[in-house]
Amino acid sequence: MTALEIRNKFLNYFKAHGHSIIPSAPLIPENDPSVLFTTAGMHPLVPYLLGEKHPNGTKLADYQKCLRTVDIDEVGDNRHLTFFEMLGNWSLGDYFKEQSIKYSMEFLTKELNIPIEKLSVTCFKGDADAPRDEETAKIWKENGMPEERIYYFGKDDNWWIAGETGPCGPDTEIFYDTGKEPCGDKCDPSCGCGKYVEIWNNVFMEYYKNPDGTYSKLKQKNVDTGLGLERINMLLQGKETPFDTEIFAPIMERLQELATNDNIASRRIVAEHLRSSMMIIADGGKPSNIDRGYILRRLIRRMIRHLNKLGIDLNNLEELITLNVQILGEMYHELINNKDNIIKTILEEKDKFIKTLENGEKELLKELNKLKEKGVDTLSAEAVFKLYETYGFPQEVTKEIAEENGFKIDLTGFDKLFKEHQEKSRMGSEQKFKGGLAEQNEQTIAYHTATHLLHKALQIVLGEHATQKGSNITTERLRFDFAHPQKVTKEELEQVEKIVNDQIQRDLVVTCEEMSYDEAKASGAIGLFENKYGDRVKVYTIGDFSKEICGGPHVKHTGELGRFKIKKEEASSAGVRRIKAVLEK
Ligand code: ALA
Repeated sequence: MTALEIRNKFLNYFKAHGHSIIPSAPLIPENDPSVLFTTAGMHPLVPYLLGEKHPNGTKLADYQKCLRTVDIDEVGDNRHLTFFEMLGNWSLGDYFKEQSIKYSMEFLTKELNIPIEKLSVTCFKGDADAPRDEETAKIWKENGMPEERIYYFGKDDNWWIAGETGPCGPDTEIFYDTGKEPCGDKCDPSCGCGKYVEIWNNVFMEYYKNPDGTYSKLKQKNVDTGLGLERINMLLQGKETPFDTEIFAPIMERLQELATNDNIASRRIVAEHLRSSMMIIADGGKPSNIDRGYILRRLIRRMIRHLNKLGIDLNNLEELITLNVQILGEMYHELINNKDNIIKTILEEKDKFIKTLENGEKELLKELNKLKEKGVDTLSAEAVFKLYETYGFPQEVTKEIAEENGFKIDLTGFDKLFKEHQEKSRMGSEQKFKGGLAEQNEQTIAYHTATHLLHKALQIVLGEHATQKGSNITTERLRFDFAHPQKVTKEELEQVEKIVNDQIQRDLVVTCEEMSYDEAKASGAIGLFENKYGDRVKVYTIGDFSKEICGGPHVKHTGELGRFKIKKEEASSAGVRRIKAVLEK
């Protein structure tokens, strides 16, 4: 069976069981500025997991293109991928644990003919937030899973959430036993030795994690599952790595033919990054120095560096892209439809990078020589950043060259500088956008939204008692009075500032709804001056962060606010503190 056949089998199976098949959302999320790429099937479905009605019903199945960049440096080993495909079935307040497990079991053992002896499962062990998931274990047993292959683990292994807040819940993961020798007495699905490979995750999404770390129950009980296509394909074909399957093998072989200095890690990096870059470009990505564009730039440039390492002439790039369109085009028609643009984008980036490499590598080697003379063994964050800013030299190329020459580099420091740089360029572009707008009004509107963020942040850091006692806004600053018995410490103020700035960075969408006062209260909105409001009120919601009854107006996105800075904290009256803060552009 091929990956495409597995995908079709999956979709057909769920279709036959009453699921509507929905198309994969693009890798670049629509209407969600808070993430760079779609990282899981649930991403595009969040509103429906929270209770919005999906036009295709309550039972869905799909394949979703995903990109995860946290492991980018691990690519080259035998398992890590940046781009991957996740097959998923969904219940939006429809079926729950029992039916979901039945489907998984039947699909794996009857459709894919995996012997049940090869499978083991894990369930959530339970903690203060949610009970031990014995119900799931029981269902597994009823479906033929022997007790000794049902494991319980804690939140690290058996709880799924995308990011810090949002819909989440306990999960049950299905592992495939590769038949390798156990790594020791304690070898089990959590040990990561490679004997057990996770293939499918069933998340029972009935909770919502709030920004203050507490959990609430969602309106409905959902099921979110993810079956990693490349992995299951590899296992069913009895291969050791995804690079040995039809998805990568023809490219790996061609690279081997072309290489004059072969090494398998570099070939894997080229094959993997080529596929990811092509998928991002097909979904509208362009290389640049910030955000998504920078990830794409890093992928292409790292691939080119490894082509160089392999001794492969870069003039072969077009042929490799064409070959990849042939291999993957049937699975992803967008590659066929965007072939010319993919070739053009990658070749242009290659030309830019050649220039960059020539100049940057010279500079870097000069710098390393200087350090050697001084007896220093670490390249500073500033030097890494200068190479990036002046020559567009990606940090991992700097790292690789530095390490090849026996140096360490300060990547943590670089990340900090990089973030500062991103912020400056982002604010610069907003400044341009704002040029034509009415200045005065706009300032006060921004301070108004910042006040909501501050209010919520104070409640998170100091506690729920820190409620609003007064607010005053000018075009220059905000002033906010709130209940708190003692001076707010420097650390607490820093925390509050950070939380507010994080929400600004997340560029949360601000929305407004009208409802009755009682509905507003029931929805959890903070409402302070009760007698000021009539029967119907406006509730302003800032992403998943704050909900407050308020007359408005507010900005549309928190990203418009600039940098939030607390200037002063002082006593206002007995038991009431006052903060003055500004937004720096
Ligand atoms: N959302 C779950 C995951 O990504 C299925 O593992």
